[in-house]
Amino acid sequence: MKKEEKIFTDLIKKDDEDLTLRPQTLSEYIGQEDIKEMLDIYIKAAKKRSEAIDHILFYGPPGLGKTTLAQIVANEMGVSIKVTSGPAIEKTGDLAAILTSLEPGDILFIDEIHRLPRIVEEVLYAAMEDYVIDIVIGKDTQSRSIRLDLPPFTLIGATTRFGDLSAPLRDRFGVVFRLGYYDLEDLEKIVRRTAKVFETKIDKEAVIEIAKRSRGTPRIANRLLRRTRDFAEVIDNGNISKKVSYYALDKLGISPEGLDETDKEYLKTIIEKFNGGPVGLDAISAAIGEEPTTVEDVYEPYLLQEGFIKRTSRGRVALEKSYDFLGIKYYKEGLFNE
Ligand code: ADE
Repeated sequence: MKKEEKIFTDLIKKDDEDLTLRPQTLSEYIGQEDIKEMLDIYIKAAKKRSEAIDHILFYGPPGLGKTTLAQIVANEMGVSIKVTSGPAIEKTGDLAAILTSLEPGDILFIDEIHRLPRIVEEVLYAAMEDYVIDIVIGKDTQSRSIRLDLPPFTLIGATTRFGDLSAPLRDRFGVVFRLGYYDLEDLEKIVRRTAKVFETKIDKEAVIEIAKRSRGTPRIANRLLRRTRDFAEVIDNGNISKKVSYYALDKLGISPEGLDETDKEYLKTIIEKFNGGPVGLDAISAAIGEEPTTVEDVYEPYLLQEGFIKRTSRGRVALEKSYDFLGIKYYKEGLFNE
């Protein structure tokens, strides 16, 4: 595969399975009502003026629909979208190749935009602001800079780490949206919609149970639905009954609260190895064998939101809910200091 193809295909491959499930229009997209309402206005305004829509940044935990929304914006605008990611663009030349291949109005989607190399990011500034890029050709004393004009385009960036974006990059997005976890009602709608796409019959109770155990995340809801469907296929008649769904979800190690084996290990580590905390991110990550960034971006946001842990200046602390969850007796904070 040519280098340029590789830059574009990495992400598409990763989510290939999901592509058929993805809603294509804003009206099909479930949840994130405020974002949809604003996007609808910006899309209509840009279309009326026959302009490219302003640069958009989506941020929030993984699996909440950042890529899907970018694809919907392209679809609703009637333009093409090129999909790539921060780590796939290694050199300024890679970025120049992508940008010069765009047609007027096209969308460039950069996932994990916080991982763009610094020199690439700096070239992006002028591209976003003035639709030009300055590239250096030749070496040392022979080198000179040439300026290329670009068509008006829209950059859509996605990141799980808003705080890791440099201020100059952040400031160049006209629109910034934070995606939050989905409520049960929306997750149930998503499970029902996906089951329909699969042409799989599913009981009301099974829909509720999958939604409940998907920790506010559509990607997890759809994954649990797929796995539950496998169980239904093999041990039943293909229909997802309440009984099959409970059986499958328990087998998958998903607790009724939606926590998986890694979440459990994380909480157990804080409580059993570090006395309930406070303990630093690196120490916990090393103990459970996960990258600190994965722990911070994937596991902790939900545990924090649901009150299993809290973050203090001295590190993470397990809260009473974690002890209850693991069936470990809780000694009230400060009890031994009195
Ligand atoms: N599939 C995954 N996320 C979705 C969403 N937000 N709306 C509809 N279908 C989805």
